[in-house]
Amino acid sequence: APSNVVNIVEVGPRDGLQNEKGSVIPVHLKAELINRLVQAGVTNVEAGSFVSPKWVPQMAGTADVLKQKTTAPGVHYAVLVPNHRGLDDLLSLLSSSSQPQSPPLTDEISIFTAATDAFTRANLNCSTSESLSRLSPVARTALDNNLRVRGYVSVVIACPYTGKVDYKRVREVAKELLEMGCYEVSLGDTVGQGTPFEIQEMIEEVSKDIPVSKLAGHFHDTYGTAVANVLAALNSGIRTIDSSVGGLGGCPYSPGATGNVATEDVLYALQNSPYTVAGTANGTIDLNQMTDIGWWISEKLGRDSVSRVGRALRAR
Ligand code: HMG
Ligand code: MG
Repeated sequence: APSNVVNIVEVGPRDGLQNEKGSVIPVHLKAELINRLVQAGVTNVEAGSFVSPKWVPQMAGTADVLKQKTTAPGVHYAVLVPNHRGLDDLLSLLSSSSQPQSPPLTDEISIFTAATDAFTRANLNCSTSESLSRLSPVARTALDNNLRVRGYVSVVIACPYTGKVDYKRVREVAKELLEMGCYEVSLGDTVGQGTPFEIQEMIEEVSKDIPVSKLAGHFHDTYGTAVANVLAALNSGIRTIDSSVGGLGGCPYSPGATGNVATEDVLYALQNSPYTVAGTANGTIDLNQMTDIGWWISEKLGRDSVSRVGRALRAR
């Protein structure tokens, strides 16, 4: 039986902030967000991405974010890369004058593709099979440079362009990502349209080929089912959940999709349960601190926290 320890991958600084309209969020604010999250106990945080700034303007400046943040030992500060160019830029940063330092600014990249060609085209400007051929050498170079590699499959339930997704395709794509060296594949309900029963059916299909210990769940909350989908994923044996402080985010290529499941909401839902959430604040991630961070960053962005738990705790 899988352990009862749940790992959180905090994706707010990347998946959250990448979707912010308006002016680019200053580097110092992104670095402070990452530092606060780590202080609250987070050990896996997506710090940003090395993608085309024409495609995702908010992620420009990730190199400076990596340099400005504190680098805590034992914390993985993953950087999303879409192609070899992104990895090359990261590797030259890591080997530049002030480097190598110990610990390194990051020890992990994330690579991504999708279960439909239409979505991959919108996100990466190529088909899914082309993206896999392009990503394979990226993974190899990263591994050769002592970076670990995490994979994403987007639109695992529904695609904004082609509708209902074939879970067999999710399984095939996830398998290819693992075969190219990803230590884990995160299954993304990008549109946030999935229901708990669909999530369970999808995981059942994917785990025909892949041990659930190598899978993670990545749920957006467009239809309000994200916390329920987290619990469904845990029921199916998944133990790693991607979430976003304050429920920040969306996806620039998924019209209408809202943020990731809020980290606060996941922490709250797992209180008084058989599960414990791993982290470094008294052995876990501190709910009150995460609530404060969710409000702090949301107010910097000119709005209220959208985390339901964040709002309830503030009102108390
Ligand atoms: P393209 O236009 O086909 O690429 O885009 P290209 O090779 O023709 O290059 C176009 C321009 O981008 C060139 O500049 C390149 O130099 C530059 P120009 O000559 O026009 O001045 N370029 C880059 N610049 C910086 N960093 C790079 C880079 N590569 C090329 N790495 C490309 C192809 C992959 C670049 C583009 O499609 C891209 O950047 N896509 C990224 C999209 C993205 O970040 N999406 C959001 C993340 S995925 C997500 O949110 C889903 C997830 O959360 C899971 C879920 O919820 O499902 C993970
Ligand atoms: Mg996402």
